[in-house]
Amino acid sequence: MSLIQKFEILKDHAGEKIPHAESMEDLKDLELHFLGRKGELATLMKGMAEADAKGRPILGKAANEVKTFITDLLDAKRSEVLQSSYTSLIESERADITEPGISPTQGSIHVVQRAIEEITEIFERGGFHRERHPEVDWDWYAFEALNTPSDHPARDEWETFFLDAKSSSKLGKMLLAPHATSGTARTLANEKPPIRSINITKTYRREININHVPMFNQFDGVFVDEHVSVTNLLGVLDFFVKAFFGEDREVRLRPFHFRFTEPSFEIDISCGVCHGKGVLEDYVKCRTCKRGWLELGGAGMLHPNVLKAANIDPKKYTGLAFGFGVERTYMMKEGLQLDDIRHLYKNDLRFLKQF
Ligand code: DAH
Repeated sequence: MSLIQKFEILKDHAGEKIPHAESMEDLKDLELHFLGRKGELATLMKGMAEADAKGRPILGKAANEVKTFITDLLDAKRSEVLQSSYTSLIESERADITEPGISPTQGSIHVVQRAIEEITEIFERGGFHRERHPEVDWDWYAFEALNTPSDHPARDEWETFFLDAKSSSKLGKMLLAPHATSGTARTLANEKPPIRSINITKTYRREININHVPMFNQFDGVFVDEHVSVTNLLGVLDFFVKAFFGEDREVRLRPFHFRFTEPSFEIDISCGVCHGKGVLEDYVKCRTCKRGWLELGGAGMLHPNVLKAANIDPKKYTGLAFGFGVERTYMMKEGLQLDDIRHLYKNDLRFLKQF
């Protein structure tokens, strides 16, 4: 059989096999089988060496034709296989636009953050601007500058976290701010009257139980100017309470003791359930409050020593200050009686979604 005839048989062979390929892998194998270095065409072409000078170009041309024929067949089949794999992919991935979708769960702002934003917004309306201060602070701002020297028993109330860090000869030990009033001490030291500022920050104390978390938020406000009095304090608190809790709520100041204020008060607001009466309509005792009032936080007129520590002349200026817990204030607004304040920070969505 001549080489030309063998080429023809090879073409027929390829023409039979290639159209039956089912995948790209099959086609790769067939390409190797027919056109590879050790494939059928290469094997036949070895026989060309025996041809004479006249016959060789004819055989060469015929071999090229076989190669082109097989290459074209492979290419055509390749695009066919590719096309059908796309078609089946489109079929299997087809989107049914009439099918109801799965809506993504929507995030929302944490209830404590929302409370912070609302409180900030109310005080900004009253001309206070929000400031931020370090959560890691010095003993000086947390206590000394607030008229509470290191040996004073009142400091036990704050159950402070001290840092294992080098003390400063001027500012004392490093600590985690035990109350937002540390920030107020910084505001007083950094600014000149008139000062009207609010700082809301995380505060830290060594206490954890159903009523306390070791990290919580407080807001502390301060207003220093000439002739600032207890009347102004009552006015500011009344403004806040009415804006935050509702127009029908009243404020009451109860004498108390803080080292950094004189006089000092605890602030109560009238109960939203019994409206300050302490009893409900049928003379049943109100369980939300204590005799008609709820305890909101502390306040007072800045002690002259606090003003002096900040280089503010207490003969010329007076100042009011107040500080509340954000979480507690918010719970009171919502009328929520949390059985455990720690729920707020457990990140359990079943709990948080209630707000
Ligand atoms: N810092 C106090 C506390 O954590 C609250 C407080 C009382 C803040 C009186 C004040 C204030 O600014 O004037 O209990």
